[in-house]
Amino acid sequence: MIVVRSIKKMQALSRKLASEGKKIGLVPTMGFLHEGHLSLIKRAAKHSDAVITTIFVNPTQFGPNEDLNKYPRDEKGDLRKIKQAGGDIVFIPKATDIYPGDFQTYVAVEGITKTLEGAHRPTHFRGVTTIVAKLFNTTRPDVAVFGLKDYQQAMVLKQMARDLDYPIKIIVAPTVREKDGLAMSSRNKYFNPEQRKQAVCLYKALQRARTLVKNHRMTKTTVLSRAMGQIIRTICRTAEIDYIAFTDFESLRPVKKVKKNCICSLAIRLFGVRLIDNMKMM
Ligand code: PAJ
Repeated sequence: MIVVRSIKKMQALSRKLASEGKKIGLVPTMGFLHEGHLSLIKRAAKHSDAVITTIFVNPTQFGPNEDLNKYPRDEKGDLRKIKQAGGDIVFIPKATDIYPGDFQTYVAVEGITKTLEGAHRPTHFRGVTTIVAKLFNTTRPDVAVFGLKDYQQAMVLKQMARDLDYPIKIIVAPTVREKDGLAMSSRNKYFNPEQRKQAVCLYKALQRARTLVKNHRMTKTTVLSRAMGQIIRTICRTAEIDYIAFTDFESLRPVKKVKKNCICSLAIRLFGVRLIDNMKMM
């Protein structure tokens, strides 16, 4: 496995791979990898000849009061896991190379970044699209894989690739969960064992909504949201709900009644940690 730390070397390597006719797969991450990330690497390997995994804790996507400085890191462990998962190349750029002192260009998707996460984290997606555009330019992938766990992020990046004519196939891979249903996340490590147990409330609430839709034909999203709120507060008394939203999967527009292609997304603060999750309702 090759580890590359310079932008110039990464560009040269991806040009060489392309000239040899190799298909490049890209998996951007912020590190502290878990099975969810590794599933994306395995998926990318199925669609390419060389998988580039990137590790970069991207400062521009964190808000002023968010967890940039305490975001967990474990480069050694990450490299071991990427190798085991079948990754070929790991790109670990330095923040000062990605954002030099005179940096002043950002990439921003409009419309669909204004709702859900975007409404609560106003500068977040601009940071995500800027770093992913830069990674696209550096690694020149044929395929890039993102997780459905960050559903809106995946939709925003698809939009960016379309709008900016990146000749890249974007694959969105399913969410990998812990045994109890909690979506795997690098942020889960912030919890102590008792808090971790209560973190299952996001999954339980989503599951409850889907059961109400499927088994009880309950489709009114106000009623479903209320039921979800009750489950969350029963499992975790101190949980603060940022939002519970039912939207059309493609347009991200809110829906009053659940129908085909409707997804429920939620963001919750538990013991100072902000978690997100989602589930298709039909
Ligand atoms: P990060 O949170 O490290 O996630 C990297 C990729 O892993 C994203 O595509 C995310 O959706 C996916 N992922 C996270 N948890 C997952 C799970 N439980 N199952 C499946 N996939 C999962 O998302 C980011 O980093 C950043 O915003 C990034 C795109 C790298 C830009 O900085």
